[in-house]
Amino acid sequence: MPHDAGQPDDATGPAAAPGPEALRAPAGPFAEADRNGLWRAILGRRDVRNEFTPRPVPDETLARILAAAHCAPSVGLSQPWNFVVVRDEAKRRQVHDLFSRANAEAAYMFDGPRQALYRSLKLEGILTAPLGICVTCDRSRGGKVVLGRTHQPDVDLYSVACAIQNLWLAARAEGLGVGWVSIFDPEELKPLLGIPRDIVVMAWLCVGYVDELFVSPELEARRWARRLPLESLVFDGEWGRPAAGLAPALRAAVPSGPKPE
Ligand SMILES: Cc1cc2nc3c(=O)[nH]c(=O)nc-3n(C[C@H](O)[C@H](O)[C@H](O)COP(=O)(O)O)c2cc1C
Repeated sequence: MPHDAGQPDDATGPAAAPGPEALRAPAGPFAEADRNGLWRAILGRRDVRNEFTPRPVPDETLARILAAAHCAPSVGLSQPWNFVVVRDEAKRRQVHDLFSRANAEAAYMFDGPRQALYRSLKLEGILTAPLGICVTCDRSRGGKVVLGRTHQPDVDLYSVACAIQNLWLAARAEGLGVGWVSIFDPEELKPLLGIPRDIVVMAWLCVGYVDELFVSPELEARRWARRLPLESLVFDGEWGRPAAGLAPALRAAVPSGPKPE
């Protein structure tokens, strides 16, 4: 069903809605406890593959993380996302088959010891997590010309990525883990879920309760990759010029793991 974002159904002219000034609220910094809570979610969020428990996810909780996703920014307020919630095990098994095939191909793309290490990694929790969420992008959402997309057509995809990150953080706060799986051919997934050809599959998210999580990225713990120093990524005024003055503050600002309970 097409949606025409940016053109509300009830927009009957300026007299119908309160003026924009009336819709503002104060926006000071959060209290320290609230800031800490936000940081706890940011630092404690992990990509989860192994730690899912079979405990079912109540509809109310699922609804809250989907609502968090739906609060994400989107270009021109186009909200190009959809979420296909998949609990059915047989269906998830079919998705797992797609993963297994793609993962076997992926392994051959790495050489020598790297390939051996790749093969040792678990890169999904499609069957162990009690539910999967396929997140999609409808590139026609918002109509032919979308505010903000006129010169950067891919920003609708970025909008969906923002929604996924919102969901991921909200899930952490609920005690739910999320694992993003991208190792499958998205075109092969579409017929399994009845997704139309012109819709883009953005992610398969494994979602379920977790009792434990890695304190830093699992791929770091398993020596696949390391988090880069932030100060090496921040430039001062022009590409490539180190932001030397900012470096001590940048180093101090990046904590090494989740804040203690
Ligand atoms: C777009 C995207 C695709 C990803 N695909 C996979 C995947 O297929 N399998 C996997 O194990 N992790 C996947 N990840 C998770 C990353 O490996 C993970 O985010 C990264 O190692 C950092 O770990 P953290 O999320 O626990 O901080 C993906 C993450 C993103 C953002």
